[in-house]
Amino acid sequence: MDFEKSILCIGAGYVGGPTMVVIANKCPQYRVTVVDINQDKVDAWNSENIPIYEPGLDKLVKKVRDKNLFFSTEIDKGIKAADIIFVSVNTPTKNYGQGAGKAADLQYWERTARQILANSGRDKIIVEKSTLPVRTAEAMGRILHETENGVRFEVLSNPEFLAEGTAIKDLENPDRVLIGSKDTESGIKARKEIVEIYANWVPMDRIIESNVWSAELSKLTANAFLAQRISSINSISALCEKTEADIDEVAYAIGTDSRIGPKFLKSSVGFGGSCFKKDILNLVYICQNYGLDEVADYWESVVKINEWQERRFVRNMLLNMFNTVAGKRIALLGFAFKANTGDTRESPAITITRELFEEHAEVVVSDPKALENARIDLKDVEDSIIFEDDPYKASEGAHAIAILTEWELYKDLDYGRIIKGMVQPAFIFDGRNILDHKGLFSMGFNVFAIGKAPLTHI
Ligand code: NAD
Ligand code: UDX
Repeated sequence: MDFEKSILCIGAGYVGGPTMVVIANKCPQYRVTVVDINQDKVDAWNSENIPIYEPGLDKLVKKVRDKNLFFSTEIDKGIKAADIIFVSVNTPTKNYGQGAGKAADLQYWERTARQILANSGRDKIIVEKSTLPVRTAEAMGRILHETENGVRFEVLSNPEFLAEGTAIKDLENPDRVLIGSKDTESGIKARKEIVEIYANWVPMDRIIESNVWSAELSKLTANAFLAQRISSINSISALCEKTEADIDEVAYAIGTDSRIGPKFLKSSVGFGGSCFKKDILNLVYICQNYGLDEVADYWESVVKINEWQERRFVRNMLLNMFNTVAGKRIALLGFAFKANTGDTRESPAITITRELFEEHAEVVVSDPKALENARIDLKDVEDSIIFEDDPYKASEGAHAIAILTEWELYKDLDYGRIIKGMVQPAFIFDGRNILDHKGLFSMGFNVFAIGKAPLTHI
């Protein structure tokens, strides 16, 4: 079959994979290829066990794989054949040299740009899908135009707003798609080509067009605003614990104000995930570079509050368990950074496990989807941690349970059965405020939730 367009995505991760799966499903007229340097990952995409857990993804992959969706490690060949190239490689925080700990590490991006340059014999549209510092497209444009063969590249920004665990829903029914290009004739023409792809399923009034710098900066700003809401509510949770105000009641009360809105006001043990911290620190670094220190400090405080909230959780456990957890078995229910994903990047569970381990607790980690990643995150202390996928077995003989991920299954556990197998007095720390606290208290648990007065028998 002749395809109308040949689309390539470089990077088969949490963004590149699901995004291309949805494009291939919605647009049978396009040939979509996803390439990656990681052979194991590509093999997994081509197998029965795709490399990421995302509700609904499996089914969609099976519908189009080897029809108009292909996974491969043949990057050069993919570049040569493509009309449009989405780049969705990772852009982690730099951990060396200037900007270490804050700036985005652009080495993967730059390598990709050079590879595109080396393998392009005709004009192409390059689309930044990765989250990048504002004005990266400019730098990429410069690298790409280091050619004398007359080939022209148009670099666009089309940041991705999907959240893990709801990626398919977010991609199929996005709040908006943002496409930024240069304001030149060729820039606008390229932008229209990308609009045309999304218009196959996204209503036109949800496709926003902008200049390329606005698109790049909007992505960093959206993540900063979302994370800021969580840090704001988490800061108030600490005050609730001191005053017997209830954080869920406060969040509900303020969220009914249509100017504030109810979303992203769920107080928690802290936000995790590969994006929020990385993107805010990137924003902080950019602001510092432009001499905007007050702006940088403002956004950095969002990350600082989050780190404080994680540490505060462990401090509360210690304080309430008679100032020591040494030798005590503690069952951590949930290790993923949020429910419905196996992803553990920047999960608060990592810090909490390590801090409890340093306090000489016997830590049991449990999670329905993330134990494999948990083992990798805790590689250096793996032999001292117990990994157990059954939450009942994890809680057997425990002094305390801590809920660290809001998996539905933890709401429905038989806590009456669990408390019988625990050391008394039994403690439960609900880091996600998902349990029935009064019910647990009446079973005999000492209950500590985020932003709520403790319910204790001691
Ligand atoms: P990821 O680590 O899951 O995937 C990136 C992939 O790129 C990896 O499989 C890696 O092997 C591959 N790669 C790296 N260099 C390569 C190269 N030179 N050639 C081919 N493949 C290469 O990362 P991700 O979570 O998919 O994130 C990708 C980008 O999207 C990041 O900039 C991130 O900030 C952004 N983003 C992520 C999310 C999310 O929820 N994860 C959401 C929106 C935006
Ligand atoms: C985020 C953005 O939502 C998404 O638009 C962007 O593309 C990538 O970064 P993601 O990190 O996958 O997505 O998940 P998200 O739902 O935003 O949750 C991030 C963290 O915040 C999780 O740890 C979650 O548990 C926490 N969270 C979220 C809260 O603690 N309270 C809330 O009210 C919402």
